[in-house]
Amino acid sequence: QTILQVEEVLSEFWLGVEELKEVMRRMKQEMDRGLRVATHDEASIKMLPTYVRSTPDGSEVGDFLSLDLGGTNFRVMLVKVGADEERGWRVETRHHTYSIPEDAMTGTAGMLFDFIAECISDFLTIQDLKHKKLPLGFTFSFPVRHEDIDKGILLNWTKGFTASGAEGNNVVDLLRDAIKRRGDFEMDVVAMVNDTVATMVSCHYEDHRCEVGMIVGTGCNVCYMEEMGRVELVEGEGEGGRMCVNTEWGAFGDSGELEDFRLEYDRKVDEASLNPGQQLYEKLISGKYLGEQVRLVLLKLANEKLLFGGEVSEQLQTRGSFDTCFVSQIEGDSGDRKQIYSILWKLGLRPSALDCDIVRLACEGVSTRAARLCGAGLAAIIDCMREHRGQGELEISVGVDGSVYKLHPCFKDKFHKTVRDLAPRCDITFIQSEEGSGRGAALISAVASKMAS
Ligand code: BG6
Ligand code: GLC
Repeated sequence: QTILQVEEVLSEFWLGVEELKEVMRRMKQEMDRGLRVATHDEASIKMLPTYVRSTPDGSEVGDFLSLDLGGTNFRVMLVKVGADEERGWRVETRHHTYSIPEDAMTGTAGMLFDFIAECISDFLTIQDLKHKKLPLGFTFSFPVRHEDIDKGILLNWTKGFTASGAEGNNVVDLLRDAIKRRGDFEMDVVAMVNDTVATMVSCHYEDHRCEVGMIVGTGCNVCYMEEMGRVELVEGEGEGGRMCVNTEWGAFGDSGELEDFRLEYDRKVDEASLNPGQQLYEKLISGKYLGEQVRLVLLKLANEKLLFGGEVSEQLQTRGSFDTCFVSQIEGDSGDRKQIYSILWKLGLRPSALDCDIVRLACEGVSTRAARLCGAGLAAIIDCMREHRGQGELEISVGVDGSVYKLHPCFKDKFHKTVRDLAPRCDITFIQSEEGSGRGAALISAVASKMAS
């Protein structure tokens, strides 16, 4: 009986095929509006040109430094790009991970970029490279309006970053200024890219059909290779070839396109976030928000006396206490409920076996909706690529990275199935990216350096 009532509450999270097709249709419409100069300003999806083009004619070889800001951690990497007879390029990396202090994320831009410069300095000391002026590729995983590959302004922060004085400014200048302020090393910043773009480029190196890059981690976003003629925001669009477009699809829904799909939990998650009203599609899917969604569902079930005998611990009542990695761990439980017990105990709860099963159902409801919504979005993008290329069928590979995609036990499969069901005319291969951001940023920098010289 209880389970039936629980299923009733959770049924709101289920999206049928017709609903997913509707999401896909609206996504296609917003993509189109974002690409066109006439409608770009009102479009919720910004479809930002990246100045990464389809025809790199060779690259520099040598050492590059890559920075990766915007995922769970900040990373500094040394990437050696070499000539390889078979594949053209050979890439080797060494890296170091730094966790970003809360006050650097939410203080001022100066504090954030001083922290970044300090990490670079530390890394160069460890690698004994302080004396060298290396070319640097910066993976900066936020919406940037580029004027060129090494120049672009931050439109708005996402994913809990709020450092003041950065929005509206050229991010590369913020980095260059911080390096100058320190004065103990020099760098030649040659390219700034989104993490989706770096992921795509690094996977393209393994598989030349890879023309889409996707992240499902703390945030969620996609880039893809668009026909130059459709990238109206860049002059000279008549030239032919393709340019990578960073869709910034996380903002889908910000003009009301998802209102009929958003639930009471989603509204609460949004209201309590640092950017209410923004990134509404991302808030349904990405790791920064999934755990909090589950927590709110558990509170609702307990409130209706369907869970924990109606009693919840103080921890569970605390915002942010239910980490998204718990969702992965709970759904990854082998069936003996040990993992579920242990997580709930740590949250100060004393669950029965039935409670454990219900918590698992709640996690499944939330993560399945995320996977299917994300799948509908990607199906829209890939099907648009097929149409824009005037092809009946499209064979394509997608490079993917991010903690939700990689660590959740079932997200991937449900997501793949949804994309394939909704885009039946496309033959899609998914490639899981390893170290994509660092390698991709270095490869893009290697090409940019060659062009500049
Ligand atoms: C990585 C990439 O490992 O995945 C980052 O190097 C990217 O650039 C990240 O932002 C996304 O995953 P998460 O889960 O760390 O946000
Ligand atoms: C957010 C950012 C976007 C990034 C994504 C994944 O959506 O706005 O730029 O690609 O997170 O990290």
